[in-house]
Amino acid sequence: MASLQSSFTVRSTIPTTRIPPSQLAVTKRSVVSCSGGGVDRRNMLLGLGGLYGATSLVPGQKAEASPILPPDLSTCDPKGAWTTKGTEVVVLDVNCCPPYTDVQTDYKLPRVTKPRVRPAAHRISKEYLAKYELAIKKMRELDVTDPDDPRGFTQQANIHCAYCNGPYDQIGFPGVDLQVHNSWIFFAFHRWYLYFYERIMGELIGDPTFALPYWNWDNPRGMQMPPAFDNENSPLWDINRDPAHRPPALVTLTLTNPPVTDPVQIIANNLTQMYKEMIGDVESAIDFMGDPYSAGMQPPARASGGSSEGGSHAGVHVWTGNPANSNREDMGNFYSAGRDPIFYSHHANVDRMWTVWKDIPANYSKDINDTDFKDAAFMFYDEKKNLVRVKVADCLDHTKMGYKYEHSDTPWTAYRPAQRAVPVDIKKLSKNATTPDKLFPLKLNKTVRVLVPKPSKGAADEVLVLEKIVADSTKLIRFDVFVNDEDDKPQELDRAEYLGGFTQVPHRARAQESASDLRLNLKELYENINIADDDSIVVTIIPHINGDEVTIGGIKIIPRVAA
Ligand code: C2O
Repeated sequence: MASLQSSFTVRSTIPTTRIPPSQLAVTKRSVVSCSGGGVDRRNMLLGLGGLYGATSLVPGQKAEASPILPPDLSTCDPKGAWTTKGTEVVVLDVNCCPPYTDVQTDYKLPRVTKPRVRPAAHRISKEYLAKYELAIKKMRELDVTDPDDPRGFTQQANIHCAYCNGPYDQIGFPGVDLQVHNSWIFFAFHRWYLYFYERIMGELIGDPTFALPYWNWDNPRGMQMPPAFDNENSPLWDINRDPAHRPPALVTLTLTNPPVTDPVQIIANNLTQMYKEMIGDVESAIDFMGDPYSAGMQPPARASGGSSEGGSHAGVHVWTGNPANSNREDMGNFYSAGRDPIFYSHHANVDRMWTVWKDIPANYSKDINDTDFKDAAFMFYDEKKNLVRVKVADCLDHTKMGYKYEHSDTPWTAYRPAQRAVPVDIKKLSKNATTPDKLFPLKLNKTVRVLVPKPSKGAADEVLVLEKIVADSTKLIRFDVFVNDEDDKPQELDRAEYLGGFTQVPHRARAQESASDLRLNLKELYENINIADDDSIVVTIIPHINGDEVTIGGIKIIPRVAA
């Protein structure tokens, strides 16, 4: 076993040959007799399947595994896109598979001569908008003139569906879906996706400096849908959006029910959410990026995603999609999100947030050095229609990819809530709270107050864990968590007592999704609420949307394990 283990530590580069599925089935049992090269190593892993059942790994507790490999296009299932309704699997009437070719190369980043500068969408000039519209128009024309051109609008939209809704199995793991959400590969996959999308736009309009505008939703000036997208006669228009959310409606990065209507409160909630997911809630790179995801693992559940993915990213998707459509199309469901041109500007800001986060001073490392992260790889068509393999490692420095972001202020950096002057009287507060044993497992159909014991007293470095969350994956889910809260103001998140929330964008899951744990860091909240030397806290969980579709198995506080 020792030699087997050591061969794993030599992580090979991406294998250049495909293994036909038939061969995989044969080699499944001949585990030990191979040498550790790319292909053989994967076959060995098959024999060790038991190790890869976990949907998420606790930071620091690393299973022996290997990086997520790019999909094998020849095995893409044209009828393989599906979603779920309750416990039923519903096959979607859409073929998300890209055109097939067996000519593929490893992508090399071209030398940067003049970087593209991605502007804030709400302040682009008429001329810039005209170029943007022309590019999207040309992509849409390809849908008609050459539907098999991978640069066409629908082909580009389907990339998202293919990497999310099940047409691809992971190479070497028949029946195990490839999923690019809810884990540490989220940012990198979408960065590469936008990179090629942007180059395709530039190619189609003959302007190699053209850069994708970003939807600046983290700044109050950009919190409306950018006007460029709100023109019914523009190629940037999409009919499948929430008609109530056209300008001047403000985006809500957090979802409350009933929705907040006061614009001042909406902005305060948005800035609070940004501060928390970028700074206040983040104690490690994993907190921000998402949990590990390696070859052979089942698709991770929502709670495994990073603070940004599960926060502002999910919020904007849900806010934009049309609630009257059965799957909240387009933006509100992953299979259809790429059909709305605003998707790419939304993700440009998600990507920008990754670059901003990297530069925020912190007392933890921003880098993930695990080779399962760095060697994870994807497959895209470039602007010349070449099929290329790209690696996470090659996108970690976006300036090497030849683009940067036009500056916009980030007022949320200073948005830590004011500290309470006087700690709460926990004895008094706990009179209205229940102990966990009387409450869990809990169906979240109403607001609950629960008294949770702390492992250490006072302001320790601790994590609140909501254990074994099970939620219907087809439903939009939103709940919020407050600590030691005396006020009943569930719509005001810019308060010391607000710990965090959970948003699930509807997606598909082949079977009942395995239960996952939601971890919320308590360290900064303890300081904000000026916690006394207490040995317990009162946690309030407020269901906003579809709480009755959520079951929470248990609740506990644990010391935070440094990642
Ligand atoms: Cu791939 Cu915003 O999702």
